[in-house]
Amino acid sequence: MSHIPVLYHEVLEALQVRPHGRYIDGTLGAGGHTRGILEQGGRVLAFDWDPEAIEFARQQLAEWGDQVQFVNASYAEMGRFAPEYGFGEADGILMDLGLSSRQLDNPTRGFAFRYEAPLDMRFDPRTGQTAADLLNTWPATALADIFWRYGEEKQSRKLAQALVENRPWATTKQLADFIATVLRTPRGRSHIHPATRIFQALRIAVNGELEALEKGLAAAVKLLAPSGRLAVISFHSLEDRLVKNHIRDLSQEPEWSPAQLISNWQPTLKRISRKPIGPGTAELTTNPRSRSAKLRIAEKVVSD
Ligand SMILES: C[S@@+](CC[C@H](N)C(=O)[O-])C[C@H]1O[C@@H](n2cnc3c(N)ncnc32)[C@H](O)[C@@H]1O
Repeated sequence: MSHIPVLYHEVLEALQVRPHGRYIDGTLGAGGHTRGILEQGGRVLAFDWDPEAIEFARQQLAEWGDQVQFVNASYAEMGRFAPEYGFGEADGILMDLGLSSRQLDNPTRGFAFRYEAPLDMRFDPRTGQTAADLLNTWPATALADIFWRYGEEKQSRKLAQALVENRPWATTKQLADFIATVLRTPRGRSHIHPATRIFQALRIAVNGELEALEKGLAAAVKLLAPSGRLAVISFHSLEDRLVKNHIRDLSQEPEWSPAQLISNWQPTLKRISRKPIGPGTAELTTNPRSRSAKLRIAEKVVSD
């Protein structure tokens, strides 16, 4: 298997897979984590928004027959689809966020600027606006806003203005080279290309990633059976903060809130580890892309 799933053993341990249990993989990708669940006897309902990912993984996992079912939709929609497939109560749900290596290494998708490609960046290339659409039609204020919020770019306004003045934008390298001329990094300060943060911001905006994550987490918590496990791997601080706060709000009683005066607060989740789990030394050596991965785990509790 060429693809190495991130935090593979940690995820399987977190999900506590048992034979005939029902597991939802919200982000199938190349199917690495799903395969692990299948090997331990679990049944899987696997979502991916990218039709190419679904087709690839379907071939990879063909030997597993109907122990795995596939849905080409966003995990934000799992609440609607899961009951239709008999997964209205799940024993475990995994979300391994972001991009797969296959998407990043595919020169036609426009996710990476080491290849010349059209500025697309949609997980589902059949619907919605591309990164080029955003760059060529949005006002500078809206572009600055996403560069600031999703890319944590300090010179967001300057860059947005320069981009608007030099429209139209068509390809990845054209954009990355221009960004490098606008956002000069002081010598010795960073080896990271300044376009990295901007590409991240565009991708998050194009796919509505943080909104999808909020919706997906809420749906996942509802679908979990009592004692069911939620495992989420995030790759940047915006995602991780959202996951952390979502789990905290459902597991920890607020110190004080007016709601407490009228209702008894009950937890919906139990946090399994306070600190997120990251890759060990061995994984860091074999898979440098695991560097920024953080796994958070929670368990559904049902209070009566
Ligand atoms: C990091 S990869 C998952 C890798 C997978 N765990 C494996 O073992 O191969 C993330 C996948 O999530 C998909 N994805 C991203 N956003 C999604 C969403 N909102 N709904 C469903 N899939 C999504 C991407 O298309 C990509 O294939």
